[in-house]
Amino acid sequence: MAEQTYTFRIQRNQVVGGGRLESRWQEYQVKVEPNATVLSALEEIKGHQDGSLTFRQSCRSAICGSCAMRISGRTRLACKTHVGIAARDGVVTLAPQANQPVLKDLAIDIGPFFKRIQTIRPFLEDGPETATQVGKTAYDHVNQVSQCIMCGCCYSDCTMAEVSPEYIGPAALAKAFRFVSDPREGKKSDRLRQLSEPHMMWACSRCTMCVHVCPKDVKPMEAIVKLRTRGIAKGYVEGPAQKHALAFHEDIKKSGDLNEFTLMIRTLGLVGTLQETGSALHLLKKGKIPSPFPHQARGIDQVSKVYNLLEQNPLDVETKAPEIVPE
Ligand code: SF4
Ligand code: FES
Repeated sequence: MAEQTYTFRIQRNQVVGGGRLESRWQEYQVKVEPNATVLSALEEIKGHQDGSLTFRQSCRSAICGSCAMRISGRTRLACKTHVGIAARDGVVTLAPQANQPVLKDLAIDIGPFFKRIQTIRPFLEDGPETATQVGKTAYDHVNQVSQCIMCGCCYSDCTMAEVSPEYIGPAALAKAFRFVSDPREGKKSDRLRQLSEPHMMWACSRCTMCVHVCPKDVKPMEAIVKLRTRGIAKGYVEGPAQKHALAFHEDIKKSGDLNEFTLMIRTLGLVGTLQETGSALHLLKKGKIPSPFPHQARGIDQVSKVYNLLEQNPLDVETKAPEIVPE
């Protein structure tokens, strides 16, 4: 492929007095083939135009996760992204990962990200639930999440991490799923109890960004959904998010339609609902208070059939194998 000149618009960041971050944009012209990687273009800039430009890289093979950065609006691996695909009208925009502290230019402090991973105890623990036998299909259930390279792309583009820095994030939850699903793990229930606490698995808003940006097809959100199912099965249902999900489940199974009128009270309880009186009055003024009379959807018998089938034959959505529910 013929070489073309691309503009690289790069966010230059520097920590100045008092820990304040000073940012500016700087442009570089680089002549490369469209299928050259963004990382090779960055090396060209650093080697021949501006040695002060700082970024991380190591393996150049989408294995180590260190070159993750925001490339034309999405967090991706620079060593896996082709310049021609990233460019918009000949311009490639580069910025450091979001939701993480920046050290310099495109390099972030990865410490807080790994602290989140540590929170979920990323190692097998011996305990009362350790299986004495490991079946042939056991690995299928952890295979996909085991592909994670800890690049942080999912955390950087996570919309919930953006508004709630306490949220543990998709990478840590995918890692947690790996241990909850491993037959050798001895404290599965204890893990699910911890994951049911605030800012853990129920804090995910299911925006699916983690699924879209993950360079290894880990699908963290699917792991989160499965963790939630297992947490509920264990009886960890005290939080409002769990109650909300159960109310949905109950309504759809019973009538195929949501009873929004009672949803809030079933989610927040009486006290929590009374605290929301202001919002209720606002909705009332706008004519948006739902009907108090339950409504049954047409084709409810079909809905019930699907529920019954799934309850009798729970399926792992990735492997299509019967789901292994931790004892
Ligand atoms: Fe990166 Fe995917 Fe792991 Fe997130 S889940 S850290 S995007 S490999
Ligand atoms: Fe290792 Fe890109 S340099 S993943």
